Amino acid sequence: MITFVKVRYKNFLASGDAPIELELNRHASTLIVGKNGAGKSTMTEAICFALFGRALRNINKPALVNSINKRDTMVELWFTIDQTKYHICRGIKPNVFEIYVDGVVLPAPASLADYQTLLESTILKINYKSFMQIVVLGSASFVPFMRLSPAARREIIEDLLDIEIFSSMSGLAKEELSEVKATGDQLTVQRVMLDEQLRMADTFTTQLEGERDTKLATLHAAAAATQAQIDTLRAQQAGWTTDRDVYAEVPAQHRAASAKHAGYATTHRAIAAREKKLEKERVFYTTHDACPTCEQSITVTFKQARFLVLSDKEAAAQTALTQCQTLMDKYAGALAALQGSLDADEALQRQIALVSGQVPIHTRRLRELEEERQVTLAPPAPPVDVVSIRAQQQGVLEQHKVVSARRSVLDTAMALLKDSGIKARVIKHYLPIINKQINHYLTVMDFPIHFTLDEEFKETIQSRHRDDFSYESFSEGEKKRIDLALLLTWRAVARMKNSASCNVLVLDEVFDSSLDVNGTEEFLKIIHALEHANVFVISHKTDSLIDKFHHVITFEKQRGFSSIKV
Ligand SMILES: Nc1ncnc2c1ncn2[C@@H]1O[C@H](COP(=O)(O)OP(=O)(O)O)[C@@H](O)[C@H]1O
Ligand SMILES: [Mg+2]
Repeated sequence: MITFVKVRYKNFLASGDAPIELELNRHASTLIVGKNGAGKSTMTEAICFALFGRALRNINKPALVNSINKRDTMVELWFTIDQTKYHICRGIKPNVFEIYVDGVVLPAPASLADYQTLLESTILKINYKSFMQIVVLGSASFVPFMRLSPAARREIIEDLLDIEIFSSMSGLAKEELSEVKATGDQLTVQRVMLDEQLRMADTFTTQLEGERDTKLATLHAAAAATQAQIDTLRAQQAGWTTDRDVYAEVPAQHRAASAKHAGYATTHRAIAAREKKLEKERVFYTTHDACPTCEQSITVTFKQARFLVLSDKEAAAQTALTQCQTLMDKYAGALAALQGSLDADEALQRQIALVSGQVPIHTRRLRELEEERQVTLAPPAPPVDVVSIRAQQQGVLEQHKVVSARRSVLDTAMALLKDSGIKARVIKHYLPIINKQINHYLTVMDFPIHFTLDEEFKETIQSRHRDDFSYESFSEGEKKRIDLALLLTWRAVARMKNSASCNVLVLDEVFDSSLDVNGTEEFLKIIHALEHANVFVISHKTDSLIDKFHHVITFEKQRGFSSIKV
């Protein structure tokens, strides 16, 4: 509970250089009186400004500075919360905003807005709207609860029931959910991309393997063809080598035949030479009748006998020549035949030599084909690092799992935190208590209507004689009683929840015009019955009230400045 202790202000609205100071927790009830414009409402404005940096009325900040002095506006507020003493100083021209905790200034964050948030959410635990509803009931620009929209009503009740935290949590959950969704979407995109990369790698590898198989088949066929070629060449070589066997004896035979032929030729020449000698002798005997040497005559008989001998010899030589010639012809024929065989053998040798030269070429080709096959046999390298992609894919899947789990937690949280979730349960729990309290205050104020707020924060008002009244159909005085019943109820709820509860209650000219004598009596009964409260009633109806309060303060305006009359 906040206990306001003291407020002091100068150069704030109608106040001047002389500070105005009011003790806020000394008297249970205080009557504040003074003429119109004397500066009575200014005290509430000062409390509000100290706490929230703004006035209750719709005045902008520069207009809060006293229009005569135009500077040095300073509002200070002292209060305690659970034994801790706080002191807030706020000034305009120059700007001041300081919070003291047990006499020590609280370090201000970089931004003033953060300092204000710190004050409202961690120290006061009350926001401006709720403050309006539980501290001040006034004529100025105060909007009664009944005139607020259901959303604004919800906000105030959530604050009083201390459940606006669920709205903040819902906001945070919503933000996180949208982040988580975005992350999830990103991960899905990543997954699709990685899948695609793997699929392409797979297609490419299959293609490479196909190409490799085709190449291996080609190499295999080429090797088989080359081997066949080598086999054919070797077979030819073997065949021709066998063929040559036939000619194995031919050179020797040729040499023998050649020798024979040469021998017969020699013999032939010798016989031919002898025949020439015989011919010469015949010519001699034919042309000579005497010996040219001894000159002895050659007889006819001798000649005849010699011619007979010569004829025999010539005939024998002729026969020998013919025989020789026949033999020579025979060997010449044989030699010619043998030469044919030699030529054939040589042709075979040439073919064998040719083939012998070709086999190594094909063998070398075979070796090259085998080398190429070994190289081709190695499995094709994938175009991308498939292992690393699989690892990435696994990582993404795991992240996705985490994100999905978080998402389902957040979905559940959102369901719990939305208006119809936990908050609805809490509100449902407190609504009967709230309604009972409102009706209690209405009864005490002698206004026997039945007032019910439902879960949508819409009211139903019933009376003994008529059903379904609307707030607007009541008289001003009756409306004021409803407003007061609600305000007192909020204070009771705040005290019960130990949330936005405080000692000060200001009723600013609330009952001056709209409460009759009876009403005033009832209302005074109530405020005097309030516990832990310091009630300030601002009124210009002094006469009838003055002796009913523990303390009276009179404001007056002197030389344009508001002050407290002593
Ligand atoms: N910035 C200002 N400088 C000086 N006087 C101001 C300023 N703003 C308002 N006032 C005056 O302050 C008075 C209002 O004080 P207020 O406390 O509301 O009076 P009341 O006693 O009727 O409640 C008016 O006379 C108004 O003209
Ligand atoms: Mg006033």
